[in-house]
Amino acid sequence: MTKATGVQKVILGLVIVVVAGVIATVVLAVVLLVNQQTTTTVSTAANGATTSTPPPSTTTYPPNTNASQGFKDAAAILLGAIDPSVNPCDDFYQFTCGNWLKNHPIPADRTRIGAYDVAQLTIDTNLAMMLGNISATDQTQPKTVLAAALYYQKCVSYNDTAHNGANLLAVLNGTGRTGFPMVDANWAPSDPKNLWTTIGYLESQYALSTLFQSYVTVDWGNVTRNALFLNQGALSLPLDYYILPQFKPYIDDYVTNLFTLAQLLRDETSSKVTDAQLMDDTLKVVQLETQLALAMSPDTLLRNYAFQYNEYTLTKLNATYQHIGWDGYLSSLLKDVDPHYQMDSVVLTEPGYIGVVNSLIAGSLISPRTFANFIGLKFLEDNALYLGSPYRTALLEFRKNVYDENDLPPGATSCVEDLTNMMPYSTGYLYVNSIPNRDNITKDVLLQSTKVIEQFMGMVDSLQWMSDTTKNASHTKAAGLIKNIGYPDWLLNTTALDLYNKKYIDSMLSLGSAVSLWDISSALKYAFQRTENFQLLEQAPDRKNFLASPATVNA
Ligand SMILES: *[C@@H]1O[C@H](CO)[C@@H](O)[C@H](O)[C@H]1NC(C)=O
Ligand SMILES: *[C@@H]1O[C@H](CO)[C@@H](O)[C@H](O)[C@H]1NC(C)=O
Ligand SMILES: *[C@@H]1O[C@H](CO)[C@@H](O)[C@H](O)[C@H]1NC(C)=O
Ligand SMILES: *[C@@H]1O[C@H](CO)[C@@H](O)[C@H](O)[C@H]1NC(C)=O
Ligand SMILES: *[C@@H]1O[C@H](CO)[C@@H](O)[C@H](O)[C@H]1NC(C)=O
Ligand SMILES: *[C@@H]1O[C@H](CO)[C@@H](O)[C@H](O)[C@H]1NC(C)=O
Ligand SMILES: *[C@@H]1O[C@H](CO)[C@@H](O)[C@H](O)[C@H]1NC(C)=O
Ligand SMILES: *[C@@H]1O[C@H](CO)[C@@H](O)[C@H](O)[C@H]1NC(C)=O
Ligand SMILES: *[C@@H]1O[C@H](CO)[C@@H](O)[C@H](O)[C@H]1NC(C)=O
Repeated sequence: MTKATGVQKVILGLVIVVVAGVIATVVLAVVLLVNQQTTTTVSTAANGATTSTPPPSTTTYPPNTNASQGFKDAAAILLGAIDPSVNPCDDFYQFTCGNWLKNHPIPADRTRIGAYDVAQLTIDTNLAMMLGNISATDQTQPKTVLAAALYYQKCVSYNDTAHNGANLLAVLNGTGRTGFPMVDANWAPSDPKNLWTTIGYLESQYALSTLFQSYVTVDWGNVTRNALFLNQGALSLPLDYYILPQFKPYIDDYVTNLFTLAQLLRDETSSKVTDAQLMDDTLKVVQLETQLALAMSPDTLLRNYAFQYNEYTLTKLNATYQHIGWDGYLSSLLKDVDPHYQMDSVVLTEPGYIGVVNSLIAGSLISPRTFANFIGLKFLEDNALYLGSPYRTALLEFRKNVYDENDLPPGATSCVEDLTNMMPYSTGYLYVNSIPNRDNITKDVLLQSTKVIEQFMGMVDSLQWMSDTTKNASHTKAAGLIKNIGYPDWLLNTTALDLYNKKYIDSMLSLGSAVSLWDISSALKYAFQRTENFQLLEQAPDRKNFLASPATVNA
């Protein structure tokens, strides 16, 4: 799960906040120390305009000569980065960062390393030891922790003899789903509606985004409620790889990887499909992905929130995009969490992309077989780490070629990362609970952020061009800011913790300790989609939600 896809990515970007928040005292005080492979070029403003910093405010604070431990630690980190053997007048950069660069070589699986990464790695290593030492029968632990430990222990002691490709195929071959044509010699086209129920089912149960990517967050059009946002789909490679000629070798590697995974599944299930057929189907899927890539907007263009707010009722969706099975998609996605989903509206963030999908379905360029293979291959690739050693090896080989990852999972810390991404309040609880002076640390960060806001407001007040009305409005906004600092106040109440994580506990612990990695990772993804995503549709926005971005919380 290092390369999170689909809705995971959208949500995961936000959930890191839990752990990141609590390590903030160490890190905030540290100048961003970073070692990276390529230097980025400094961009000049396109219009050549010069910007000027507002004059400093006159607010003063007592000098921060502070003897507390946190300040000492931060000072030690800063001093440890300096290379005193270099004369700052000769090379200021080597003087300030020389020892940091020397002491923090870039790990094989990364292109850069910074102070945040080092702090996170220390935390993850400690969490790995805690999770590794928790016994499944330890009734003194919250059930949340037992569920997390079960996943962690399966993940690190991954059983190479297991082969779970057949289980994955059974999911695709269930009633009302498309099947997986390229590995199934008996495949025949089914009801076209099945494509949409399959897409919704895999997204809600296995956190797999394919043609669409849906997530629930505060409705920007009415901040008193949450809404379902439907975004463009998720592809396995960065968009440019499909389109620009210099990435052709990566596309070739990708085709080989998909083909190899499909071969493994074919052989595991003793299917009679030929290699030639597998390759033909694989190429058609990658062509479809290229069409989708051309219709997608790069992340850098997804910043205009007004353009991205397009509210549709189900009736309007039906009428506008007639070839998409909205009813099947939305019902398989939501009916368990929101029985009245048909009454709600959906916000489309990229209507242009949805239009292209509608046209591709209506046209004759892409066959239903290729759409079904696209879904099947994405499902296979997304789960290759959990299906058994041949699948895992094939996927990791591909990542090594394309992303230059050498230090490959499963490692203890990558298993912890999975948990932090998919079950944020499990590792979050363990970490916070292990910090004895957590309240003092929280107070420090609160003080620090209050000072930052005060300074900023001092700058606002000093602006001559801003009207008093606007200044007053910005003071009101600043006074009303919700500061989610450290961790939620309920986190250490184990009753509340287990209540929050009920879906994880129910779906993971019931599997028992003999569970396969495929089954437990599927249960984890299912509970994640329920708890952190779709279930929110039935809840009012929570401004104290530590997993939401500050912009959302303060909307
Ligand atoms: C030193 O830090 C502590 C918290 O760590 C704070 O209570 C105290 O006010 C600080 N002293 C100064 C002089 O800033
Ligand atoms: C248990 O914790 C100890 C340190 O307290 C550590 O050395 C050991 O690796 C941990 N065991 C597992 C299985 O993680
Ligand atoms: C590995 O998995 C196989 C099949 O799932 C099982 O029979 C075997 O007992 C497992 N071995 C270990 C060490 O867990
Ligand atoms: C999938 O199901 C169909 C019937 O619905 C069956 O003919 C086919 O053999 C099944 N394929 C596999 C691989 O189980
Ligand atoms: C905003 O949402 C609330 C809660 O769903 C609803 O009662 C209210 O009518 C909505 N307001 C508008 C202007 O749509
Ligand atoms: C949308 O269309 C489907 C058939 O394609 C129909 O079953 C459903 O009732 C329609 N929903 C609405 C709200 O119009
Ligand atoms: C927290 O800070 C107070 C003083 O502000 C100090 O007395 C106490 O020992 C600190 N607690 C811990 C656990 O460091
Ligand atoms: C701004 O706020 C101050 C104090 O709260 C008030 O005296 C003043 O009239 C306000 N000015 C405007 C333009 O709203
Ligand atoms: C802990 O959480 C439970 C469930 O939310 C709540 O009923 C209980 O009052 C809380 N206990 C404390 C000490 O806050």
